[in-house]
Amino acid sequence: MTYQDIYDAAQADPNGFWMAQAEAIDWDQAPSKALFDGNAPLYEWFADGQVNTCWNAVDRHVEAGHGDRVAIIYDSPITHTKHEITYAELQTRVASLAGALKAKGVGKGDRVIIYMPMVPEALEAMLACARLGAIHSVVFGGFAANELAVRIDDCEPKCIIAASCGIEPGRVVHYKPLLDGALDLADHAPEFCVIFQREQEVAHLEAGRDVDWHAFQYGVEPADCVPVEGNHPAYILYTSGTTGQPKGVIRHTGGHLVALNWTMRNLYDMNPGEVFWAASDVGWVVGHSYICYAPLVFGCTTIVFEGKPVGTPDAGTFWRVIQDHGVKCLFTAPTAFRAIKREDPGGALVGDYDLSSLESLFLAGERADPDTIEWAEDKLGVPVIDHWWQTETGWAIAGNPLGIEKLPVKIGSPAVPMPGYDVQILDEGGHPLPPGELGAIAVKLPLPPGTLPTLWKAEARYRKSYLEQFPGHYETGDAGYRDEDGYLYIMARTDDVINVAGHRLSTGAMEEVLAAHPDVAECAVIGVSDTLKGQLPLGFLCLNAGTDAAPEAVEKDCVKLVREKIGPVAAFKLAVVVDRLPKTRSGKILRGTMVKIADGETFKMPATIDDPAILDEIATALQTVGYPSKAG
Ligand code: COA
Ligand code: AMP
Repeated sequence: MTYQDIYDAAQADPNGFWMAQAEAIDWDQAPSKALFDGNAPLYEWFADGQVNTCWNAVDRHVEAGHGDRVAIIYDSPITHTKHEITYAELQTRVASLAGALKAKGVGKGDRVIIYMPMVPEALEAMLACARLGAIHSVVFGGFAANELAVRIDDCEPKCIIAASCGIEPGRVVHYKPLLDGALDLADHAPEFCVIFQREQEVAHLEAGRDVDWHAFQYGVEPADCVPVEGNHPAYILYTSGTTGQPKGVIRHTGGHLVALNWTMRNLYDMNPGEVFWAASDVGWVVGHSYICYAPLVFGCTTIVFEGKPVGTPDAGTFWRVIQDHGVKCLFTAPTAFRAIKREDPGGALVGDYDLSSLESLFLAGERADPDTIEWAEDKLGVPVIDHWWQTETGWAIAGNPLGIEKLPVKIGSPAVPMPGYDVQILDEGGHPLPPGELGAIAVKLPLPPGTLPTLWKAEARYRKSYLEQFPGHYETGDAGYRDEDGYLYIMARTDDVINVAGHRLSTGAMEEVLAAHPDVAECAVIGVSDTLKGQLPLGFLCLNAGTDAAPEAVEKDCVKLVREKIGPVAAFKLAVVVDRLPKTRSGKILRGTMVKIADGETFKMPATIDDPAILDEIATALQTVGYPSKAG
């Protein structure tokens, strides 16, 4: 069957197509049908089935005689550690952790926040929740205590599982103090916290609240898998929207299993037993789907890599990992390759390793620039596949399905829609645009299995953010076009979301932090182009009239404030004081125009601009922080 046959089959008969894919999953009770559309435009998949994610990701492989197969390889150049965990070992470890959580009252539907670095225990914590039907919410380690507190208050966890520390090049990230700080800030108090003590930094445990990861498992009865409904939330993952309040994307259990399992063979061309490596972090959706769930559900070996593409110890680390573990498919963000290319432009280190196991490189998380794709193709000699997706969808909206057929690669395009995604390019009025014309990218409802059904405790926000602009469609928030061959091109966000080193961040959230500075009257944050990270945030600050604060001091304070409130991952290092912000006559800040000036692009003077002279002031201020940059 060709890609087109498969895509058409899913369009013609979504129920038949997805029920057939659901056969690859072990159900405690098979669903009666795939699509539940009785509450449209809210849709659910496999709602009346009974299933357990952990059973499918772990136990069933042991049951099938593959207990000795390696499930997880932990490779940490940062701590000089490597070890393997077989499926049988994983089953024992996860059943024990789940048993301890159960003994402390965690059960189906309870929320559990997981705040851990890239260690196998992070996956074990996710799987232990899944085993009990508890709903996990993993929080990325690069966020500050305040961001963690916001998530604690939103999902109200019964328990928080954290590590004592994370390790970044050159510094220890003090997870436990960050957790303690978040608990001080939050209104909601979890019943208890489980702390995984790492030898690099042993944390103080609060008597009566904190328990030790190992000690609390002592003597407990291992827990069995608890079947849950197909529409039971497997997890909540918070992602940036336009405001400081992150959106809690929900993933339902049944569709998640079916869709991810489908992608392993059809998109990534994997077979059970082979080694899949997503070089990302469990705190992001890529980590949920392709470090943890998809490879394990499909019976592959997954790699938990605690390191960076460069500096741990050098730009050859990725090649070393591929060689040492026989990686067949590598998935990462283009920024990782830009970092490697910058350190080793000629690819000299590639030649030091045997990369014969590698068959493909998949890139996602941000626009893949042609230079990076061409460099990777040239140095690695394997297909480099750009694919496009979002936290909301949980798997690729568009890609090149290597396991079905390798479609011609067009550099700059993440290729074609995956089955179940009816992608439309729409004008402002919601009318489809012809090939070649740029518009908003929307997906005709229903979205396929595995995608978000709604937002946690925020259905109205879900409808407003995604469904209202183009009735009958899901609005992706991306703009782009389609060519004559049906290939998609993803060009920019249509909202205030920026993408920094493959990390999705909200400029609105940063503005909220800056606006809280006592000397700041008004501010705007834009994303400027950066050769390494794709984009970087840059803040313009207008100070209160009559303040005697020195502009440089406020700029410095603001950089510190964003790091404290949002976290180092925001990479907010550029702030500049200006007298006024350019606005339309109705008072809307002209962020897009400022981006063009910072990037050195030509722009059309907005017809509605209040005072064009302000743009010159902005250009002058940008020069003081090095923009437009010569390298940009
Ligand atoms: N815990 C704590 N802090 C973290 C962190 C974590 N898990 N991850 C990143 N940070 C910190 C970094 O240490 C850095 O802090 P600094 O300002 O003190 O230097 C800051 O957050 C910014 O991190 P990042 O944007 O990642 O920049 P970097 O300079 O550390 O690394 C790359 C640049 C390109 C090497 C890195 O971004 C990378 O490997 N990206 C891969 C992309 C990826 O995994 N994307 C996920 C979606 S696929
Ligand atoms: P996240 O939810 O963090 O995965 O970020 C999703 C956003 O990243 C998308 O809406 C896009 O703006 C961007 N993105 C992800 N993958 C790609 C890609 N292959 N090409 C262009 N942009 C991408």
